Amino acid sequence: MPEARQTVWTRKDLIGIEDLSREEIELILDTAPQFVAVSKRESGIKKVPLLQGRLVVNWFHEPSTRTRTSFELAAKRLSADTLGITVAASSSVKGETLHDTLANIEAMHSDVIVIRHGCAGAAHILAARHDSHIINAGDGRHEHPTQALLDAFTMREHVRQRRGDPEAGLDGINVAIIGDIEHSRVARSNIWALNKLGARVTLCGPATLIPAHVEKMGASVTSDLRAAIRDADVIYALRIQLERQQKGLFPSIREYIRLFRIDNDSLRAAPDHALVMHPGPINRDIELATEVADGPRSVILEQVSNGVAIRMAVMHLLVNFGGKKPTGTL
Ligand code: NCD
Repeated sequence: MPEARQTVWTRKDLIGIEDLSREEIELILDTAPQFVAVSKRESGIKKVPLLQGRLVVNWFHEPSTRTRTSFELAAKRLSADTLGITVAASSSVKGETLHDTLANIEAMHSDVIVIRHGCAGAAHILAARHDSHIINAGDGRHEHPTQALLDAFTMREHVRQRRGDPEAGLDGINVAIIGDIEHSRVARSNIWALNKLGARVTLCGPATLIPAHVEKMGASVTSDLRAAIRDADVIYALRIQLERQQKGLFPSIREYIRLFRIDNDSLRAAPDHALVMHPGPINRDIELATEVADGPRSVILEQVSNGVAIRMAVMHLLVNFGGKKPTGTL
């Protein structure tokens, strides 16, 4: 018999996976299935009243389709009111600070602020000073915690199905993360999450796209794609983030494709059961061949579906169980 769960949620904000304990991560993952069920209801009524009367503000300073729409849908399915701030049309472009903008939003009684920002630490500094629940939807290269949570959830669902064990976790599974690790907040949050959940992580990509000292986070590194995926239960491809690169960090796209693309040919080196994942958006036929992205091993659209449930779980835990602003901060 598994022991009864002792973990209770006490955090006001979700800033990064690095801060969370294994138990907290598992609590979020275990809170999500009820919300998967809400989105799949036969009645078609995809709503529960857990955040009724609350205001969730989506505040995105960088482009986003998936994450922004996923948070918005999650809030709506919890019956919250939602507001989206389009940065190009807001006072940030007139020089208003993040704190001032948020103080103004809070004067209109916000409950949850979902923020994406190009600067690492943006969500953290707001959380320390403001009463709203702050959720980091990606801060620079630092963290993207809800992406790692939805990824871990998707992996865990498949491990459970494959083993026929509804209690199975990620202990001992091998995850290969391939591509542009250097610029990837998704990779960083995933390394923290997977390590805490007992998985083994191997990173693979051109040496110039692997950050120095990343082994200290608990991952192993190789530049040989076939070695990286040989024992992989999950192959996680990352987008080559051309917009974040100041200089050419590998000789050419053609060279990258030859050495690192996940396609039917390179997949021959992986076990038959290996899943293929990607956080999106995909550069089709660069890091991932179309035949694989749309093929039977790909669970990319399941990641997207699970993302809504995970974000519902996070907002529910923060608002209905999370603590208030800590005293004596900045
Ligand atoms: C990622 C991001 O923005 O960090 N996408 C996402 O949120 N699904 C990864 C990327 O931009 O490549």
